[in-house]
Amino acid sequence: MVDSAEFDVFGGVTTDYYDQAVIDLPGRWKPMTGWWDARMRIGVDPYSKYTAARIDTEIVAYARNGEPFPGINFASQDYLNLATEKRVINAATEAAERYGVHSAGSSALMGLTEITVELERKLATFLGVADATVFPTGWGAGYGLIRTLVRRNDHVVIDVLAHACLQEGADAATGNVHRFPHCSNEGVERRLARIRAENPGAGILVVTETVFSMDSDVPDIAGLQAICTRYGATLMVDVAHDLGAVGRGGRGYLEIQGALMTVDIIMGSFSKTFGSNGGFVASNRVELKLALRYGCGTLTFTNAISPMQAAAVLSCLAIVDSPEGERRRKRLMGNVMHMRSSLQSVGFQVLGEPSAIVPVVLGSNGLSRKMTSYMLNHGAIVNLVEYPAVAKNGCRWRVQLMHNHTREQIDAFVMTAVAARDAVSSGVDRLLSLVTA
Ligand SMILES: Cc1ncc(COP(=O)(O)O)c(C=O)c1O
Repeated sequence: MVDSAEFDVFGGVTTDYYDQAVIDLPGRWKPMTGWWDARMRIGVDPYSKYTAARIDTEIVAYARNGEPFPGINFASQDYLNLATEKRVINAATEAAERYGVHSAGSSALMGLTEITVELERKLATFLGVADATVFPTGWGAGYGLIRTLVRRNDHVVIDVLAHACLQEGADAATGNVHRFPHCSNEGVERRLARIRAENPGAGILVVTETVFSMDSDVPDIAGLQAICTRYGATLMVDVAHDLGAVGRGGRGYLEIQGALMTVDIIMGSFSKTFGSNGGFVASNRVELKLALRYGCGTLTFTNAISPMQAAAVLSCLAIVDSPEGERRRKRLMGNVMHMRSSLQSVGFQVLGEPSAIVPVVLGSNGLSRKMTSYMLNHGAIVNLVEYPAVAKNGCRWRVQLMHNHTREQIDAFVMTAVAARDAVSSGVDRLLSLVTA
């Protein structure tokens, strides 16, 4: 049992405080709650924030204990600022009036509305594939697709840094999960050659993303698809973070790499650019439609996306696929490039390729918690990513840019980041003096 005096709020990680030895299952989480509360008390718990107004570039965030943090917002996922766009709100409102606020059923029964069916059709057209299937969440789309496709004797070959919904789907589907080094097509090919030599008849699913959410890096998808085809494997690509937000036409890195028409299965989320919860699977393999509808736990046995959500996404898609969408992406990318170069010019390391996510390397748990606390207390709202989302002491800020950010806001964020680094490294910040008092 962990003594509360032993809480290591700077060096420890959340999994240190899960007490496996306790028989009472909920009780195992007690020390972890104590550790988070200790972090909150000394001001280094930047998680579970909530808001009390529309998501915008300036907001008031509230900590778990209700303490307000007003500031410039780099912590929201609404890359083109469509979630608060009047036309999108109007579309959702009209759908609520016309269809009510609930789908009232699974899509396998009668939970679809005509508006959801239209969304599936238009999404497929946008992606240039034969069909798309809408899910209530992106998480459910990723997890459920893998569970539906892969059976016990099959194999999953998955990027070691792929999103949790993909990792958990792979582990739930089969014991034959092969994790390959991040973005390494050679690593995939080596594994496929070995699996095929030993199991000529097995199904193999290769799983990756276009933009990785913690590193903003991008694999060579066209090359990967060619490898998969050679070995009779199926490729699925999660496009959650770049679809709609990146590429001239808004089709993300698949468009930039000229790989759009080649990928076996595309899976994504609406929750980053399309103004709503929800996800999808899109492919030329039309047999997937009813396979997913009737054989996928996260679609079959859950209520369909609400009419308001479908209407919001449909309205966002119309904007994304228009000259206005192109203009919004151009401005977003200008903000991204300005943020990346400004941070680099003052000595911060930023990772990956240009996308709405700018990962900023911080390092140790303690330093990054103190720097994040400084940011929140000085008007710069940002998400800290730490273990288990990234490696221990591999902490980073996941700075999220939006179309509406101004250059002045970005410059202010960078100046605050420099001040946070200076204050924490010289040990004179308010937080440190409190802790060492
Ligand atoms: C790469 C990736 N895939 C899937 C998801 C899940 O999407 P959603 O938020 O729609 O459940 C996310 C978002 O958290 C993500 O970052």
